[in-house]
Amino acid sequence: MDDLSRRFDEGLAATRAAGLVARDYFARRRELTVETKGPQDFVSMADREVEHLLVARLRALFSDDSVLGEEHGRQGEGRICWVIDPIDGTSNFVRGIALWCVSVGVLVDNVPMLGFVYDPVRDEMFAGRRGAGATCNGRPMRASAAGVDTARINLGFGLRQQPERFATVMQRLVAQGAEFSRFGSAAISLAYVADGRLEGFWENRINAWDVCAGLVLAVEAGAVVEDFFGGEGPARANRCVAAAPGVIAALRAAIA
Ligand code: IPD
Repeated sequence: MDDLSRRFDEGLAATRAAGLVARDYFARRRELTVETKGPQDFVSMADREVEHLLVARLRALFSDDSVLGEEHGRQGEGRICWVIDPIDGTSNFVRGIALWCVSVGVLVDNVPMLGFVYDPVRDEMFAGRRGAGATCNGRPMRASAAGVDTARINLGFGLRQQPERFATVMQRLVAQGAEFSRFGSAAISLAYVADGRLEGFWENRINAWDVCAGLVLAVEAGAVVEDFFGGEGPARANRCVAAAPGVIAALRAAIA
């Protein structure tokens, strides 16, 4: 078994296990103390504990690999890096809205190679490996074949973004005939682009842990995806663009 195959199997198992722990916290969320890291930026013991469990498990298995997590930052220097968002969609999670997931990606020399997005409420495991396709609960995924006039594009908005710019993109999409929505989970958005449930996703400044896994899924399902990591690696917030082939031109025109 090659190195990435082992990481695929272990990563999938670890993401699922983490999701089940997160789901238990979700069921007891009223007992959680919710803190804010900044305006509209929530965190609770659930995020910290799920990340801690994932990091401990993965580092015990792959001690030479590095890890980058939303809550605890970077550990290690290895060229294989596990990029972890313990709960993507924390704002939904703490409100009791069942639209969040555990997201685990693997970068090799800053190229996203593996991605796992697990929605434990719906028991949907989205998994992908660069060059080998992407699946939802084992079923191969394909990006949508729709054109812009039947497209729905998810837009991400964080406070790092200028509201005027966000509004302009929204207006331009609607003017071209597209629908838009906002989920509050970039990882779920990208998984749904991969599975043809949505035609696109855009967020202007977003962190690597929100999108690393989902980008693998989208690429492997045939969506058009912009290079997020470039030469700079996962340290910097960047723009995330992914869309079905028939919609990418409209999305690019809207965000130009
Ligand atoms: C957030 C979600 C949201 C996006 C924000 C992210 P978090 O991640 O992905 O959709 O708009 O920019 O910070 O904080 O829930 O892990």
